[in-house]
Amino acid sequence: MLTQDSPILVTGGAGFIGSHFVLDWMAEVGTPLVNLDKLTYAGNLRNLEPVAQKPGYTFVRGDIRDRELVLELLKTHRPRAIVHLAAESHVDRSLVGPGEFLDTNVHGTFVLLEATRSYWQELPAADRETFRFLHVSTDEVYGSLKPGDAPFEETFAFRPNSPYAASKAASDMLVRAWHKSYGLPTVVTNCSNNYGPMQFPEKLLPLVLHRAVHGEPLPIYGDGQQVRDWLYVGDHCRALRVALERGKPGQTYNIGGWNEQANLNTVTMLCALLDEMLPESPHRPHARLMQSVADRPGHDRRYAINASKAERELGWRPVETFETGLRKTVRWYLDHPEWVQEVTSGAYREWMETNYAQRRG
Ligand code: NAD
Ligand code: DAU
Repeated sequence: MLTQDSPILVTGGAGFIGSHFVLDWMAEVGTPLVNLDKLTYAGNLRNLEPVAQKPGYTFVRGDIRDRELVLELLKTHRPRAIVHLAAESHVDRSLVGPGEFLDTNVHGTFVLLEATRSYWQELPAADRETFRFLHVSTDEVYGSLKPGDAPFEETFAFRPNSPYAASKAASDMLVRAWHKSYGLPTVVTNCSNNYGPMQFPEKLLPLVLHRAVHGEPLPIYGDGQQVRDWLYVGDHCRALRVALERGKPGQTYNIGGWNEQANLNTVTMLCALLDEMLPESPHRPHARLMQSVADRPGHDRRYAINASKAERELGWRPVETFETGLRKTVRWYLDHPEWVQEVTSGAYREWMETNYAQRRG
């Protein structure tokens, strides 16, 4: 018999959002959690040191595409829910090498769904009812908005534009089909851009912070007027917890920050915070380091989430403002140079060369 104290299985719990989710879960809920992560370049066990020795926390290094391993974990731990975050997540990498995105995001989700289905089908009827498969997805599945368009709603058609977005859209469709065809109690969340501590510095905010501190040029793709709807990662993790507890099987919930910002504005705000927090820096004013570079191919112009359904049905709203969230984020990066140093050695340099060499004017 599964209970609220039964474990949950998290995939991708060593990544950016996943490690925040695991830390928050162990602090706020405290029931057992099994973390399955392959530890790609984006996975970092250092993020999880505070819980590594906690009773109830188990880390398993492995691939979601490994059916036998997933089946074994389900049989051994008998989870009451799966929170599926594991993915290749960086749009620019998907443009350079889309194959890995299809393998992990589409095929990996398929393997996980199939293993979950065979476990779930054997559960007693009452447990089948309460079991949940929470699939963590992105607003990028909806494509790009024009300036006056209404923000994305759950009913909008999928129009993915990058290989990453297409692979996530495909995985969302698989989850939908496993609910419709087999009755698997799935819940899907589609979230906007996250930011916060421990984000790998290939994404805009940590990349800019890392480079600005060292007085290096800050690459702005194209005209910098692309709009993103930024959400503090802690708010996203809370949304996932409530979606798990209150989300209705078969439903999708859009999660966002009600916080549309043009990239130029976001980077300007970051630079102003660095000017304030590093009064002795020779690189002040940091905003003068901004440099326009060649645009991302197929670059989505605007994302914006209508999160009314999550507010209405889950009782969730973000609590962090952009100002408070950015302040926490910048403070964390300035206080943890060793974390940045560790993740930016080795393979990181090769990625920077691959992505930015082709953008030089
Ligand atoms: P991330 O790239 O930081 O972390 C991904 C994690 O998945 C890593 O720990 C990696 O080792 C693991 N992983 C990758 N392939 C795996 C495999 N085959 N088997 C097991 N583990 C594997 O990603 P993130 O930014 O934390 O995003 C997490 C999830 O949230 C993704 O599904 C992403 O699509 C979604 N999402 C992200 C954002 C965002 O702004 N970062 C916004 C909305 C949705
Ligand atoms: O919208 C949710 C998505 O947000 C998630 O699903 C993805 O996993 C996550 O990576 C993120 O995708 P983006 O492509 O929006 O994030 P990124 O940080 O790569 O870029 C944010 C914006 O900044 C985007 O318009 C591209 C721009 N940019 C990015 C980089 C890395 C630059 O102008 N310069 C840069 O060097």
